[in-house]
Amino acid sequence: MKNIDVVILAAGKGTRMKSTQPKVMHRLAGKSLLDHVIEAARRINPAKVIIIVGHEEVAIREHYAQNPVTFVSQKEQLGTGHAVAQAIDHLTSLKTLILLGDVPCIREDSVKRLTQSDADVIVLTQTVDDPSGYGRIIRAETGQASKIVEEKDANPNEQSVKEINTGIFCVDTTLLKQFLRALKNDNSKGEYYLTDLIEFASNKGASIETAHPSLTFEANGVNSKRQLADLERHYQLELARELLDSGVTISDPNRIDIRGTIACDTDVSIDVGCVFEGNVRLGKNVKIEPNVIIRNSTIQDNTTIKAFSHIEGALIGSQNEIGPYARIRPGTESHTQVKIGNFVEVKASTIGVGSKANHLAYIGDAKIGSSVNVGAGTITCNYDGANKYQTTLEDNVFIGSDTQLVAPVIIGAGSTVAAGSTITKDVPPGGLALSRAKQTFIADWKRPTKTIK
Ligand code: UD1
Ligand code: CA
Repeated sequence: MKNIDVVILAAGKGTRMKSTQPKVMHRLAGKSLLDHVIEAARRINPAKVIIIVGHEEVAIREHYAQNPVTFVSQKEQLGTGHAVAQAIDHLTSLKTLILLGDVPCIREDSVKRLTQSDADVIVLTQTVDDPSGYGRIIRAETGQASKIVEEKDANPNEQSVKEINTGIFCVDTTLLKQFLRALKNDNSKGEYYLTDLIEFASNKGASIETAHPSLTFEANGVNSKRQLADLERHYQLELARELLDSGVTISDPNRIDIRGTIACDTDVSIDVGCVFEGNVRLGKNVKIEPNVIIRNSTIQDNTTIKAFSHIEGALIGSQNEIGPYARIRPGTESHTQVKIGNFVEVKASTIGVGSKANHLAYIGDAKIGSSVNVGAGTITCNYDGANKYQTTLEDNVFIGSDTQLVAPVIIGAGSTVAAGSTITKDVPPGGLALSRAKQTFIADWKRPTKTIK
């Protein structure tokens, strides 16, 4: 929709957050509040996205340096109307959509309800049980909204109104500019209120409409940490319900966190306490046990991720069993039927079909073939303090427990490394490598005893 500009208000300090960070940079579902609002703005394909910044604006501008948005400074935060007025020269489209940087959950369908209306002003309102803190919508006898009264300026009658202003408006730009040029601050806070727009438009005989958001929490503003935490739970519950609707089994929709996107194939099940970050893909019949963290990874069909595992930047193949307590780090790729057991850390390694590392190991910068068995306590010594080196375990290798593989090193196909070995040289295929000292026995050995003084 090229005949619309979006203005996002983000200049306020957010005093009630009690933080040194600007309010709009606080995170909801892993993204800043402002990220959410910018995304909502982009969905209607506007001519311009203008962000009004003030408090800590350098930090915000730097964060969005690569983003095609226009920043406008509001040096003093004199109110929401004053904030929009700073953008007046940038408003060149027929309509202007105003979004608040601290109302992050606004959805595309709700925004479209505003932008598709022909009214001169359309405001997104909502009827709530507890309207405290919000501006109240006052309607004339005709039913048309005639003004918005801020809580501090409202008389008891007005305070009892449960229809609130979400702060989101779509306005005819010519009308908006007329209003901004006539802005006043004759209210209890001495601020230039954007909300006076409704009375201004009503007095001019302009058409005013209201629309409502699709979801109840969508218009919740974030003014405090408590509201942020509440909104996070609403948002997460909605994401969980969408997954449930798509056929995912979720043990408790109140105990899952998605900070990014998750794509699930059929018959996926997710137990409690799991966190998904970035882009996560779960294949058919994948089972995620409790308290698993998965970030930017793909898990292929029929794989189980057991409890307390941590997976990042990995491609986990099908029919794998990972964990419990496994740590899989970026650059890991496992093929089918791989087993990574408890307290095994894997980094930047590929693991071939049917290979196993079941207990207590570090596998870093390794290329592991198929049907390899990595014994408990095996360590790839991949780092000499300056450089990283590769370990290669060819097909059917068996590494005995408590082995150190000092990279770069290659263990040839089918070879066995005896338990407790420190391997510093390549091992040819098909034999046994053993580097530990021979066992001896001292028959008359006496343990040292404590002398009593
Ligand atoms: C505002 C509305 C209220 C509405 C509520 C919805 C006004 C006067 N009140 O109240 O009717 O119910 O939002 O959440 O508009 N900002 C600036 N510059 C300023 C002041 C604010 O950029 O000078 C920005 C803030 O950073 C914030 C947004 O505008 O992102 C809203 O400001 P805030 O002070 O939180 O307004 P509310 O009191 O919540
Ligand atoms: Ca607010």
